[in-house]
Amino acid sequence: MIKNYILEDHDFNRLRDIVYKEAGIKLSDVKKILMQSRLMKRLRELRLDSFAEYYDYLIENYNEEKINFINLITTNKTDFFRENDHFEFMKNVVLPEYQRRGMKEIRIWSAGCSTGEEPYTIAMVTSEFFGTNKSPEILILSTDIDTQVLQKAKNGVYPEDHLATVDPKYLKKYFATEKNEDDEVYYRVCDSLKESVYFRRLNLLQDEYPMQKKFDIIFCRNVIIYFDRDTQRKLFAKFYDYLKDDGYLLIGHSENITSITEQFVLAGRTIYRKVV
Ligand SMILES: C[S@@+](CC[C@H](N)C(=O)[O-])C[C@H]1O[C@@H](n2cnc3c(N)ncnc32)[C@H](O)[C@@H]1O
Repeated sequence: MIKNYILEDHDFNRLRDIVYKEAGIKLSDVKKILMQSRLMKRLRELRLDSFAEYYDYLIENYNEEKINFINLITTNKTDFFRENDHFEFMKNVVLPEYQRRGMKEIRIWSAGCSTGEEPYTIAMVTSEFFGTNKSPEILILSTDIDTQVLQKAKNGVYPEDHLATVDPKYLKKYFATEKNEDDEVYYRVCDSLKESVYFRRLNLLQDEYPMQKKFDIIFCRNVIIYFDRDTQRKLFAKFYDYLKDDGYLLIGHSENITSITEQFVLAGRTIYRKVV
């Protein structure tokens, strides 16, 4: 028999405190039903009888279970060429500028990359612009807190309906098609595109990041929307330090930076440039 679990306010409150502490994600009261439905399967897997029991399990097995817990709570919605004017800006403004400067290496960070559509879009745009020659060298560091989405991103295999926003010309050039046992079509990102993209787990909340070198562009789109202002302020300060002088920071179209920091100046729609 399938059990239906009810998430009581008390358990919701202590679980959301952990989400906030671990990932910076602020869950409002209306997210209770969402948390309930996302954790239900995990309770069944663990054969637990209530969310109170799940809380105890999480505390007792904190280091392993917090990974599963956070994986279930994050919202991972993404798309190829999402908020496409950012990629048009790259093509028309940023990459021509880098070409004029004769840059040998371009370092880009997709922070909160989810299942990989964003970094692979960046890889397609840069590859189209510079061609397949190895200069400049393109490095796209792609990070997320969620280990499950990172695994999907590394695999780089997407069902057909995920490719609706990709130009057929790019589909042909950068993906191979394959079918599963049920005859469903999947698209696999080609190796030449994968070569420039590196996936790593990174919690944007952590005090120190392991990267040694600065970036030319940071994409952090549709991530800070889940954070409170204090967390956003700290994150923008870190992005400032991790950007080269004149580097670009791109955030999601529904996100805002201007009321939080004055260290960046507007250069396009939700595109900012580091002020030095
Ligand atoms: C809605 S997706 C956005 C994906 C992509 N940037 C886009 O705009 O299409 C947000 C991603 O941020 C990640 N995320 C949330 N909190 C995070 C944190 N503290 N550290 C790193 N990544 C985080 C989530 O796991 C999720 O994959």
